[in-house]
Amino acid sequence: MSQEDNKRQAAVAALSYIKDGIALGVGTGSTVDHLIDALPPHAARLTAVVSSSERSTRRLEAAGIKVSALSEVGELDLYIDGADEATKHLHLIKGGGGALTREKILAGTSRRFVCVVDETKLVATLGKFPLPIEVLPMAQSFVARQMVKAGGNPIYREGFVTDNGNHILDVHDLRIANPIEMETRFNQLPGIVTVGLFANRRADVLLIGGASGVRTLQSRGFWRTQTVLASAKPCSLTPGDAVSATRPLSDHARADVPLLRATAPSSRRCCRSAPNSLHCCPIGSP
Ligand code: 5RP
Repeated sequence: MSQEDNKRQAAVAALSYIKDGIALGVGTGSTVDHLIDALPPHAARLTAVVSSSERSTRRLEAAGIKVSALSEVGELDLYIDGADEATKHLHLIKGGGGALTREKILAGTSRRFVCVVDETKLVATLGKFPLPIEVLPMAQSFVARQMVKAGGNPIYREGFVTDNGNHILDVHDLRIANPIEMETRFNQLPGIVTVGLFANRRADVLLIGGASGVRTLQSRGFWRTQTVLASAKPCSLTPGDAVSATRPLSDHARADVPLLRATAPSSRRCCRSAPNSLHCCPIGSP
């Protein structure tokens, strides 16, 4: 199987995370292109699709899928995107396609982030792939000097302007022993718009396409959510209730809509506060 076949099988495997009535965020890159190509039969099940780049928007629209603005949709239920490098801890380097800022926004606003890669992207330590950093043009040399001080070798991505009108520095030779610490530290530097490390908000699920099929790695938090859901108290909503979105009820409970199997922790129950909105409230409250 070629690398492209492995990207395709990982992308297609992500379709199984699409549930009826969800709002989907779509990433950017050649792996995600396979997802977009396979998406049209599932489009009617989605309440909204939000794109992370002009490139993905064009491809989605060419496939007949309507793209909505994030501000119209609010929170996303699921975000699917590729990566340039991934570890078994589900920390990522992203931004090879230059869409890292919008990608980080969509990942940050999504309840679940499924990352799709071919097996060449799985590494023990991040940093062989140069770390993309989106910078305001006027801050480019300042940030480049800071990257040299941090032990890196920044290269200006010649002739590339991001969808946000900014520039990219690709920082080679960084030793990324602690991705969370480095992401947090670099985020403090003025002029940096986005660091291509996705560690503070890592993936929840990593689907890795390889010679023997698609391997799945999941974060511990993802499993915790599943366990709590299974033991949670059923909500009072009944099939037929007009609820059109899947939204969190609390850190530990969710309503799966329109499956209408809303759940809450044992001391709480699910209340409907408006036609399209659920919240968690104490048992006995009106
Ligand atoms: C774009 C990205 C991509 O997800 C990353 O570059 C992987 O791309 P591909 O799927 O083409 O290998 O972060 O900004």
